[in-house]
Amino acid sequence: TGALTVLGLETSCDETAASVVRLSPDGAATVLSSVVHSQIDDHAAYGGVVPEIAARSHVEMIDGVVRRAMAEAGLGYDGLDGVAATAGPGLVGGVMVGLSFGKAVALARGLPLIAVNHLEGHAVSARLGQPVAYPFLLLLVSGGHCQLLEVRGVGDMTRLGTTIDDAAGEAFDKIAKALGLGYPGGPALETLAEGGDGSRFDLPRALLGRKDCDFSFSGLKTAAARLAQACETEQQRADLADAVQTAIARQLSERSDRALKAYAAEHPHRLFVVAGGVAANRTVRATLQATAEKNGFAFLAPPMAYCTDNAAMIALAGAERLRKGLVSDIDTAARPRWPL
Ligand code: KG4
Ligand code: ZN
Repeated sequence: TGALTVLGLETSCDETAASVVRLSPDGAATVLSSVVHSQIDDHAAYGGVVPEIAARSHVEMIDGVVRRAMAEAGLGYDGLDGVAATAGPGLVGGVMVGLSFGKAVALARGLPLIAVNHLEGHAVSARLGQPVAYPFLLLLVSGGHCQLLEVRGVGDMTRLGTTIDDAAGEAFDKIAKALGLGYPGGPALETLAEGGDGSRFDLPRALLGRKDCDFSFSGLKTAAARLAQACETEQQRADLADAVQTAIARQLSERSDRALKAYAAEHPHRLFVVAGGVAANRTVRATLQATAEKNGFAFLAPPMAYCTDNAAMIALAGAERLRKGLVSDIDTAARPRWPL
């Protein structure tokens, strides 16, 4: 079979995104276009994503975003082999916008529809624009999720660990808010931490000695939010931001270390991938890279643009599903919750 060219749509949170990706027969992925319209300005005044505002904004933006993605790819709809859309998990009002749009294109053009799990999109995102072969061990760290997964391909993943309370990105966002930083908090906290010395704070360490690969960030979140109230100077805030970033990176590494050792016992090909919005954090990346190398693993993260939400990862997951014949019914429902 030849190359597969798929339009991907992503509307599960606060970016309206469309992308065209080509999957070649040897498994290499080429991004022909990737358009992301961020709604950050619409939500900033509220300190977080407002679901109703997000859904309405997706409705307003999706036509133009898809049109741009098709134009930048230099394709007409007859150049497509399928349409992929995020069907969950996420804010269901937004998910419905992209999924309905995808169904309309599929019906009008006689193309297969591929409903994609947003997490599966993040799981394949490291393959965008760089050659990465399956299988690999994945740490998926975003605003809503924190999971360790053994990834053998689309529709073929095993979860080794997950968070028992908050996601790492959620901890970044809530602590940033307590420090008076805007939304989204992760990037702002990283910037504040640049001038800080975290060794001046002693933050709680969760799950030490626990013999699984799960995560917990709620204790850290509560402790840091309380310390933030007591900060009086800009230097103290920077010191706390650095301490928080270091603590999150350390827990991610400690839990990943356990998964790496279990994975290495069964796999000769040792590759560790980190994906999701928190993978954009440089301290997190550097700490995970050191942990990977210590365990004899190669380490990879997606290009920055594909760490946070985008549609190229949805198009690629869709193309890989299409190649396996895993297409969806036209009456597939949007799912607010959808574990991998
Ligand atoms: O993957 P993503 O765009 O959306 C979800 O699927 O959740 O991840 C967004 C999350 C937010 O919590 C944001 O604060 C965090 O990723 N994030 C960061 C950084 N950039 C984004 N966290 C820490 N440092 C960053 N540089
Ligand atoms: Zn995401």
